[in-house]
Amino acid sequence: MSTGFQPAANPSIVQTQAAREPGRAHVLVVGNEKGGSGKSTTALHIAIALLKQGARVATLDLDTRQGTLGRYLENRAAYAKRKGLELAMPIHVAVPLSALADRAAADADETARFEAALATARAAADFVVVDTPGSDTHLSRLAHTQADTLLTPLNDSFIDLDLLARVDPDTLRILRPSVYAEAVWRQRQLRAVQGRRPVDWVVMRNRLSSLAARNKRDMAVVIETLAKRIGFRVAAGLSERVIYKELFLNGLTLLDLKCGSASLTLSHVAARQEVRDLVAALNLPLPAAPGPKDAPATEASTQVPPPEE
Ligand SMILES: Nc1ncnc2c1ncn2[C@@H]1O[C@H](COP(=O)(O)OP(=O)(O)OP(=O)(O)O)[C@@H](O)[C@H]1O
Ligand SMILES: [Mg+2]
Repeated sequence: MSTGFQPAANPSIVQTQAAREPGRAHVLVVGNEKGGSGKSTTALHIAIALLKQGARVATLDLDTRQGTLGRYLENRAAYAKRKGLELAMPIHVAVPLSALADRAAADADETARFEAALATARAAADFVVVDTPGSDTHLSRLAHTQADTLLTPLNDSFIDLDLLARVDPDTLRILRPSVYAEAVWRQRQLRAVQGRRPVDWVVMRNRLSSLAARNKRDMAVVIETLAKRIGFRVAAGLSERVIYKELFLNGLTLLDLKCGSASLTLSHVAARQEVRDLVAALNLPLPAAPGPKDAPATEASTQVPPPEE
């Protein structure tokens, strides 16, 4: 365990309302050092949800090695072109890793390019949704210090929870926070030193099983306890559904699917509601008087991929 880490002494550190700083785009960072927790999938769904609420949205991809978010948006643009649709699109900016061999020079190079990309995104949007890699990188750290809201998707597994806290296997008591919680704590301290508004940290459970398994119950208990101890809010999460995998190739989100389509199953409708509930739980400061940005024709004519088995 690294030294210097202090768990939140006071749960009031948890922000329940992420207010917009006047004249500044709101930065939502989707982060978790654990790979495959659903960061890119969640980032895109939230970006599209915000566009559909009339906000101007930029997406910032800090995981260009995988480039999932960029690929998702390329697929979306290609699908819209193929089908002659107008799909709402965020302004997308990618910040690749530095090619410099010297670590200090590479960090400086990445800092300069990250700041330039963020400034571009901020100038053009009400929200900047940042997708980060599933590992501790310099770019990811930079993003975490800039987050007004930090959203951490967490697979519903004690393996994934291990990056947030060590848990006693017999009693489920939290023994101590672990690496990712420490990293967030350090970024919070940096923000405080800079006199910035504290981050609103929200943890969401992802890929929830529809079964009432013991693991699911145990995870709920531990996450609620951990929330108070290290200072985050818990948002209702997303269930495990095949549709999330199917939508990628056409760059679609659940929010693009047409109500009343023959192939839109009850499961899809429930999934879409979960996404909307998640966005509502984030309590993001929407700009005043939003107007619908995407043409109704988009939803009406969007093909739904084959239903889940
Ligand atoms: N709720 C869900 N139900 C089913 N599959 C999901 C769900 N959320 C994400 N997935 C799937 O899990 C995999 C990982 O998702 P994603 O790429 O969004 O995670 P990530 O955190 O961005 O990963 P990485 O850390 O590698 O960047 C993908 O195959 C995605 O389709
Ligand atoms: Mg990803």
